[in-house]
Amino acid sequence: MLPSSSSIRDRHPLNINPDVPLPTILRDRLTMEYRTQPETETIREGQDVVLGLSATPKSLPPKYFYDDRGSKLFEAITQLPEYYLTRTETTILQNCVSAIAARVGPCDLIELGSGSSTKTRILLDAYRQLNIHLRYVPVDVSGSMLEETAHLLLQEYPQLSIHGLVSTYENALANLPDRIHPSRMIAFIGSTLGNLALHECETFLGHVSAALQPNDHFLLGIDLHKDTAILEAAYNDSQGITAAFNLNMLDHLNWRFQGNFDLRHFRHVSFYNTRDRQIEMHIESLRSQIVNLRSLEFTATFATGEKLLSEISRKFEIPEIQETLSKHHLNAVETFTDSQRWFALILCQKKP
Ligand code: TRP
Repeated sequence: MLPSSSSIRDRHPLNINPDVPLPTILRDRLTMEYRTQPETETIREGQDVVLGLSATPKSLPPKYFYDDRGSKLFEAITQLPEYYLTRTETTILQNCVSAIAARVGPCDLIELGSGSSTKTRILLDAYRQLNIHLRYVPVDVSGSMLEETAHLLLQEYPQLSIHGLVSTYENALANLPDRIHPSRMIAFIGSTLGNLALHECETFLGHVSAALQPNDHFLLGIDLHKDTAILEAAYNDSQGITAAFNLNMLDHLNWRFQGNFDLRHFRHVSFYNTRDRQIEMHIESLRSQIVNLRSLEFTATFATGEKLLSEISRKFEIPEIQETLSKHHLNAVETFTDSQRWFALILCQKKP
């Protein structure tokens, strides 16, 4: 939960437990910044659920995946044999990080959606090995995850300084902390770009570009279009973890909004939509049923077989995404991929 504050930008030094002060050596290298949502958004909590469930076809905002159980299930997804994305991106990163560090040099590294920063460590290692200074600016909506990760990183990387930003991508990009290095690199890995609809993707890239000055860098990780069977297995694993992750969204709504979704009467459905080149994750109603969300004073009616869209994951072609990037003045200067061309990391430079 974000601390509430009347100001949008609430800057204060790290202070998880005020009774236990951090050693100075760590505190001096860490600042935390909380950008709480404007009050209008807080008051209207849950209105996005009402809107999504009132629409035809129904949908729910993907942010409701991530309660505690959801975050753990997601972590488990990244380890699944069928879920090749994390593994493949990690291999590519291992092979290209020294090239990236050598090209970009000392910089402020802003990572959007940093989570536990597992893959980022590969980049941090390369910087350390080449003895190039880096300031790390992880951006994530989960404050507790960010603070925990920042602590671990400070101990593992004695040269690193961190400015943690608890914020949405939008808000972060609109107002990034002042640079301490002349050069800035924004990283957006894990194919999260694919979870944005086309128009959201365009807006997002516009904001990334606006946050960069000529010669600054943007590092983008994207999943590539491939055989349907491989894609569908990745989002419908044999152990049922992805199904549990998808359905957990209903449980999350149950506790958050005093709902009565009965998970036995819904099922996980995911498939590759070849026309739109996207995985679509749905929750299908197995019978006709009525669901109440008491705290929202809202009732939703489901028909048998009715599907609710919970997430899309778009798959890209390298030339096509490079063209999109270049429309936003982001020039692909190096594109790294794996031997099967399943995933790509594109290093872009903002055009002068
Ligand atoms: N961006 C990754 C992907 O599209 C991770 C992800 C986001 C994901 N939402 C998901 C994975 C839902 C599985 C299910 O694959």
